Amino acid sequence: MTARISRAGPDGTRARAERCVGKNPTGSVAAAIRPVECFGADGHIVSRLTPLIRPMTADTLDLYVWLIEAIDSGPAREACREVMSADERQRADRFVFERHRHQFIYAHGMLRLALSEAAPDVAPSDWTFATGPHGRPFIAAPARPRALYFNLSHTEGCVACVVSGHEAVGVDVEELSPRRARMETAEGVFSRDEIASLQGLLPDEFVRGFFDYWTLKEAYLKARGVGLHLPLDRFSMQISPDGIGVSFDPEIDDDAGKWRFTQTSPSSLHRLSIADGSGVSGGLAIRTRALRHPWQGANG
Ligand SMILES: CC(C)(COP(=O)(O)OP(=O)(O)OC[C@H]1O[C@@H](n2cnc3c(N)ncnc32)[C@H](O)[C@@H]1OP(=O)(O)O)[C@@H](O)C(=O)NCCC(=O)NCCS
Repeated sequence: MTARISRAGPDGTRARAERCVGKNPTGSVAAAIRPVECFGADGHIVSRLTPLIRPMTADTLDLYVWLIEAIDSGPAREACREVMSADERQRADRFVFERHRHQFIYAHGMLRLALSEAAPDVAPSDWTFATGPHGRPFIAAPARPRALYFNLSHTEGCVACVVSGHEAVGVDVEELSPRRARMETAEGVFSRDEIASLQGLLPDEFVRGFFDYWTLKEAYLKARGVGLHLPLDRFSMQISPDGIGVSFDPEIDDDAGKWRFTQTSPSSLHRLSIADGSGVSGGLAIRTRALRHPWQGANG
């Protein structure tokens, strides 16, 4: 069994990150290596860590996050719906609950807008997608001079996506729901070491610990694109103040050394993890990006 602890990013990033973590109302200090946002008392983002302004390069990963309550409006939904394909609109219309429909619309609208940020010559509505053998979507057209990859995640109240020139990137965002964070669930999907580290925690700490592991494991699965075809208890996340690492049981064919993990809290109610399996030395540079909202005009 091999283990690799990933380290923080460049020095400046770590210093800013540590200041930021202190403001996080969820108290999520230990697990965050490169947290990307600061939080106000109400849990909303009040500032971002230096979103870099240079264009996407081969070794960057762009992260986009929307808190739905912060952007929700009829015009916003309409603008997102407008850029979606007919198939995506049909999928959206199949949701029974309005809030799930809205979540889907924001997620898929955001993805298209984010891809067009990376490739401004393609209109958001012009992207077409296909799915891989385990359901992972990828860009089918238009063909790009340099490949562009993404991963999308949505949960109650929050949508997120990552865009990169590397395929092995994954993101998972989850609502910190005490109802879903159950020891019986952990025992079904977490490794022995992960379960042991959750035992004896106070209820609030347990919910946080549960979703720390859940989002990290899910982000890893999504970066690999294999869905649930990997035995979830055969790889184990290690979270420490120094960083986040992963170890694999022998039956999982992967190299722990090439993975970098990052966690952040988009709000006091959400946890988000990013998995970077690019193998790029030191990990991809994560940039939090804001989208120009088409429903708010040019400066929105
Ligand atoms: C398919 C799967 C990725 C769904 O994950 P999820 O947490 O329910 O949903 P998310 O919102 O994070 O991600 C959904 C998006 O991932 C993308 N996706 C779908 N299949 C994928 C795959 N095989 N690999 C990577 N991304 C995938 C899609 O863009 C999808 O969006 P859409 O459904 O709106 O089209 C899969 O991992 C799964 O079913 N997980 C179940 C949850 C579980 O048991 N997790 C164990 C964690 S320890």
